[in-house]
Amino acid sequence: MQIVRTIAEMRAARIEATSPVGLVPTMGALHEGHLSLVARSNEQCAITIASLFVNPTQFGPNEDFERYPRDEERDLSLFAEAGVDLVFAPSVDEIYPAGLVTVVTLSGIAERLEGENRPGHFDGVATVVTKLFNIVQPDRAYFGEKDAQQLRVIQAMTRDLDLPIEVIGCTIIREPDGLALSSRNVYLSDEHRQQALSLSGGLRRAEAAFDDGVRDPDELRGMVRSGIEAQPLADIDYVSLADSETLEELTGTVEAAAVLSLAVRFGATRLIDNTTLVP
Ligand code: PAJ
Repeated sequence: MQIVRTIAEMRAARIEATSPVGLVPTMGALHEGHLSLVARSNEQCAITIASLFVNPTQFGPNEDFERYPRDEERDLSLFAEAGVDLVFAPSVDEIYPAGLVTVVTLSGIAERLEGENRPGHFDGVATVVTKLFNIVQPDRAYFGEKDAQQLRVIQAMTRDLDLPIEVIGCTIIREPDGLALSSRNVYLSDEHRQQALSLSGGLRRAEAAFDDGVRDPDELRGMVRSGIEAQPLADIDYVSLADSETLEELTGTVEAAAVLSLAVRFGATRLIDNTTLVP
């Protein structure tokens, strides 16, 4: 597995790469969720390139950029075991040299939910992903449904800017008890970890009710909310049931594919999860 740290080296390696090339963007602190994206790319592409970059511009001033878990040695060995061909692991200065004046900003779909709760977050994500796409020039790029809004924001941006890249969404990988894998799970105390089961538990209850024919968005949101509100350490940012394409909040009845999503804080740790409901 080749490791490159500069844009020049990445471009040189790209010229040698056999198509199709798959890109898996990550911020490291790898788990089976990330590795499932690598597996998918390996199935569909001749070469898999992973990026490892904790992107400062997508963290708010009071968020966890400084304390975000970093262990490059471990990440590189997990990427190698998973069959990654090349890792692009640039420094912050390589990606953001002094004097940058350009940012990618989205309206509409990027302004709700995570966008509303984390001002500037999606500008940071869209900007770094655009740069990674232009540096690596993959044929396909792999993102998790775990970050359902991020996936849709990147699909919209790719379409709007005519980027010649197929953006592929991959299913959420969970612990056996239902907790969605996340790099941030390491921050949870035992008590938080126990109470965090109410997130996937609530989504599963709403899924079951939906399968039994419940189509009232408030009722479905309420089922998720009540289970989480019963946990003394949980603080809800939002529980949303929105149109799967536009992420507009649903009223009336659910008539098309919808995303039931949530963000919940346990102390300083913020967790997100979601599921898609298809009538
Ligand atoms: P990061 O949080 O490291 O996630 C990298 C990719 O792994 C994302 O596409 C995310 O959706 C996916 N992922 C995380 N947990 C997952 C799980 N449990 N199951 C399936 N996929 C999962 O998301 C980012 O980094 C950044 O915003 C990035 C896109 C790299 C831009 O900086």
